[in-house]
Amino acid sequence: MSTEISKPEPRVATEYVSEELANYQAQIEKYRAGEVDETKMQKLRLHFGTYAQRQEGVQMQRIKIPGGILTADQLVRLADAAERFGSGFIHFTTREDAQIYYVKLEEAPNLLRFLAERGITSREACGNTVRNITACYRAGTSASEAFNVGPYADGLFRYLVRNKYNQNLGRKFKITFEGCAEDHSGLRIHDIGLWAVKKTGNGEPRRGFRVYLGGGLGASPHLAHLFTDFLPAEELFNLAAATLRLFDRYGERKARMKARMKFLIEKMGWEVFRTALDEERKRVGPILLTDYLQETEEFIPETAAPPRGLRVLNPQTADAQFQVWVRDSAIEHRISGFRGVHVRIKLGDLTAERARNLAEIIRRFSAGQLRISIEQNIYLPWVREEELWDLYVALGGLSLAEPGAGTVADVTTCPGSDTCRLGIASAKGLGSALSDAFNDGPLKKYAELARPLRLKISGCPNGCAQHSISSIGFYAAALSHEGQTVPAHFVTVGGQATSGHAQFGSLIGKFPARNCVRVAETLLDLYEKEKAPAEDFNSFVTRSGAERLKQALETLRQIPSFEDDPSFYEDYGHEHESFAVRKGVKGECAGSTVAETVPTIDAARKSLAQAEALIYHKEYEQAMLTAYEAAAAAARVPLYGRLVDPFTSDEALWEFENLFVLSGETRGNWEEVSRRFGELKNDNPNEAGARAILEETRSFVSYCADKQADWFSGYTA
Ligand code: HEM
Ligand code: SF4
Repeated sequence: MSTEISKPEPRVATEYVSEELANYQAQIEKYRAGEVDETKMQKLRLHFGTYAQRQEGVQMQRIKIPGGILTADQLVRLADAAERFGSGFIHFTTREDAQIYYVKLEEAPNLLRFLAERGITSREACGNTVRNITACYRAGTSASEAFNVGPYADGLFRYLVRNKYNQNLGRKFKITFEGCAEDHSGLRIHDIGLWAVKKTGNGEPRRGFRVYLGGGLGASPHLAHLFTDFLPAEELFNLAAATLRLFDRYGERKARMKARMKFLIEKMGWEVFRTALDEERKRVGPILLTDYLQETEEFIPETAAPPRGLRVLNPQTADAQFQVWVRDSAIEHRISGFRGVHVRIKLGDLTAERARNLAEIIRRFSAGQLRISIEQNIYLPWVREEELWDLYVALGGLSLAEPGAGTVADVTTCPGSDTCRLGIASAKGLGSALSDAFNDGPLKKYAELARPLRLKISGCPNGCAQHSISSIGFYAAALSHEGQTVPAHFVTVGGQATSGHAQFGSLIGKFPARNCVRVAETLLDLYEKEKAPAEDFNSFVTRSGAERLKQALETLRQIPSFEDDPSFYEDYGHEHESFAVRKGVKGECAGSTVAETVPTIDAARKSLAQAEALIYHKEYEQAMLTAYEAAAAAARVPLYGRLVDPFTSDEALWEFENLFVLSGETRGNWEEVSRRFGELKNDNPNEAGARAILEETRSFVSYCADKQADWFSGYTA
């Protein structure tokens, strides 16, 4: 990993990107030669978004798309990458990432270089870091937005990527931005949710954010707390930095299941956490946005008004299918004459060839701009109203003009057991079955009634498809019947996050996978028959109560014998395969925080002796660097005891300061230790300079040696 930790992500590949990818490649080679241990390799790999896949010997490469914002050229690059390095398709995720599958580990650095040429990165896409920063797909084009949050999402991403505050967290960290009056981003299921607000103070309009902290899904979902109704926009980076520093300092590292920020807040108590955060914000002080916020001007494509020629309405626009598509896909725009248009990407999967053809369409109809939405669709932000018909026809040519985007038929799934190591059953298989049932099967008759509902399916309780915030949610499990294993799903009802009123769904039972379409059918049938006029599904569910629903679904819990119906013993999408649950497989969503090699004070002392010898040989510059490395090596010893294993020396000294000095454990000693050693290292390379850092390091090494016993207590891995 590069020693540079304060460089923002560039828009085009630069030397330091090449350098860090060369290092990634070198580490892979060493790993293959047995010189780098498995855990260290895993840590590095995840930092670059390269995951282990369910299939042995190949990787899934996750790619960040900050704010979900892409250009047509970048989409083409993703498509080419999927073809050259993967299995030829791109998967878009519920967090606006792109994923390429079946990548060889050796090829990952080449793949990343190829993407970097178009300003795309995967850095910190996985691991214990700030993951992709998402934003509402309507940003910059929404009729109801306070202001365009896209540049803020992009700016915060640039500020945090490679930032030392974000390299060694206890667990992953998720941030989202919303600008519209309605929440399309799931603000309250994120570690930080930022909702754009405009306020008038002293006659001047001021930009700011309503801030939510500490949300998250997974097996123990938490809704975020409201931190403030108005954070002035210029304090955005200060808030993010202070929150990360606190989470890094006090967050759990040993019990991985309790390591998200939501648990830290629970442990400290909301009021104590808030107060600590206010204090930390004062400590951090102002951080300028201007270096990172690049798009200060509002983007309006050249094709903006006046419209080209006369707006003659094409008689074909009366076409019924087209009308349905327009109703579902074309969204009101802040500039009259324009629309935003959803392109429905079934289950988030797009082949490389289609992606390239779609990019052509995007160039022609949407000023070369697109967004990825958390519903796993593509959104074209700049379509002229009079071109909707032509766009519809062009999309139809790629079989991408299906209506139903953002409706109940637009089912969200995670990769599930098809490619994820933790998947129990196929989320995509059931997702397809449900989607087909709405399009042309037993659920079609409810498509209109159930239009605003959301269906989401996760392949295990981790909830990557966000099932707990859907109207009807599924997460995979297994049942046992007559000595055989049957794919199954837990079903939740009544969840929602995409409106001001967020709530998690309640569990109403576990059903064999083959009955899950009928579970949806029964629930919708009940809703149709028993709903009060104008009553929405979630209100109906609450009024009816879980017992009523369970009772209606009781018969669907039964599993026929294998002889009567063998299909119950096979999973959706995996017909003619016998179903089995994988045992003892570990997932890698975050990976462990420390490598196997334990750092020692002896290693620090060795470097110290080397530094001294270098002074003797008058190699002052090298001596200063070596002394700096010795100080970092000493810092690594107590840090390892806390399960922190930084990639670089700069990070090691910073983490020491954050975990031990700023927490008060050093009782006032070694204040600003990372800045102090940084200055000493960069001082004039002469004998006085070299002796100064040597002495400081000597005393720091002794300090760490004395304290290591205390600091290790109760924490060692
Ligand atoms: C290698 C496969 C994966 C593993 C092992 C994994 C693991 C996990 C775990 C353990 C959680 C619970 C988080 C917690 O509360 O600590 C989670 C949540 C989540 N993951 Fe994954 N995941 C994987 C792949 C994915 C993929 C492919 C996506 C996108 C489609 C995804 C998106 C999410 C989302 C949206 C959440 C919930 C949001 C949240 O926790 O804030 N994950 N994942
Ligand atoms: S929910 Fe489970 S199966 Fe689905 S991607 Fe997440 S960890 Fe994998």
